[in-house]
Amino acid sequence: MMALKGLVLSGGKGTRLRPLTHTGAKQLVPVANRPILYYVLDNLQEAGIDEVGIVIAPETGAAIREAVGSGERWGFKVEYILQDEPLGLAHAVKVARPFLGRDPFVMYLGDNLIGSAISTFCRDFVAGEVDATLLLKRVGNPSAFGIAEIDAQGRITKLAEKPKEPKSDLALVGIYFFSEKIHDAIDQLKPSWRGELEITDAIQVLLDHGGLVSSHEIASWWLDTGKKDDLLTANTVVLDEWLKHQIDGEVDSDSEVTGRVRLGQGSRVINSKLRGPVVIGENVRIENSFIGPFTSIGDGCRIVGSVLEHCVLLENARVEGVDRLEDSLLGKSSAVLKNHGSHHAYRLMIGDDSEVLL
Ligand code: TTP
Repeated sequence: MMALKGLVLSGGKGTRLRPLTHTGAKQLVPVANRPILYYVLDNLQEAGIDEVGIVIAPETGAAIREAVGSGERWGFKVEYILQDEPLGLAHAVKVARPFLGRDPFVMYLGDNLIGSAISTFCRDFVAGEVDATLLLKRVGNPSAFGIAEIDAQGRITKLAEKPKEPKSDLALVGIYFFSEKIHDAIDQLKPSWRGELEITDAIQVLLDHGGLVSSHEIASWWLDTGKKDDLLTANTVVLDEWLKHQIDGEVDSDSEVTGRVRLGQGSRVINSKLRGPVVIGENVRIENSFIGPFTSIGDGCRIVGSVLEHCVLLENARVEGVDRLEDSLLGKSSAVLKNHGSHHAYRLMIGDDSEVLL
């Protein structure tokens, strides 16, 4: 197979996941206790790609490097590419040109999760004669996405970025295949109204010059984890589909575990109920609590006298005395603590190191 390189975009601002992304990279926010970026790298590995460039931003680049390292866990040769400013997806490709050379590549947005492999799309692209291939997914609210119009053969005829009156409901999934021709197209771009070099504009230039752009509609789910609710949905879907039951920690005889639960080493469950799918990291303490389905609890968390359901807790978060916490995202080392009873459900998004007293 002709070498297809991987280009993973892990820069950007992550404004939509603030305040979490004030202190961390959004590609490292965990889904089922694993950074989103790891699922992206898994998918590239499975497709047989071994040369991967990771675009990073000055603010969060060090954290990404620390999380991925040399890439040997995936068998990759990783090159980190610094993008000084988040000037758009096409700008990221421009910055990555020394790494990409003239090779075909798959560009994968580091905060996108899909429920299927990309290996067949990779093979088709390398075997085919097209200049680009886009993955598409039907959506209910096309005005919120980059949208593609296609002909009967699935060839892209036109692209529109968040159209007010969408002519199709096929959204661009954050995974793109390009030949070297994309570089010439990017060289012709001017910044868009939002001051960025847009990859959709570059693809439109390809089309305008008679380039062939094919598409595949994916059948599986696709989640762009940019916002809190998307992230909770991603957590739900991944726990639902991929979690395996495994208890490495300790569960005392007063506790009850039902459904699929993963409990990490050094964690203790005392007089509590866990109803899966639930993933709990290492060195977590759960006492006199109920942990309901679709909850992910990071390493070092402590939950006492509380009810949690459909929540994501990052490392070392604490919840104490809270009657019911649902649909919530708690940053690292944050705390939600309550002294006396009232019977409300809370819906929270709490940044790293914050504390909420109810
Ligand atoms: P976006 O979600 O489009 O942009 P963003 O990260 O700036 O987020 P927000 O809208 O919340 O402010 O980015 C998609 C992916 O591409 C994401 O993983 C970040 C990455 N990216 C870059 O690496 N460089 C860039 O210049 C841009 C715009 C995004």
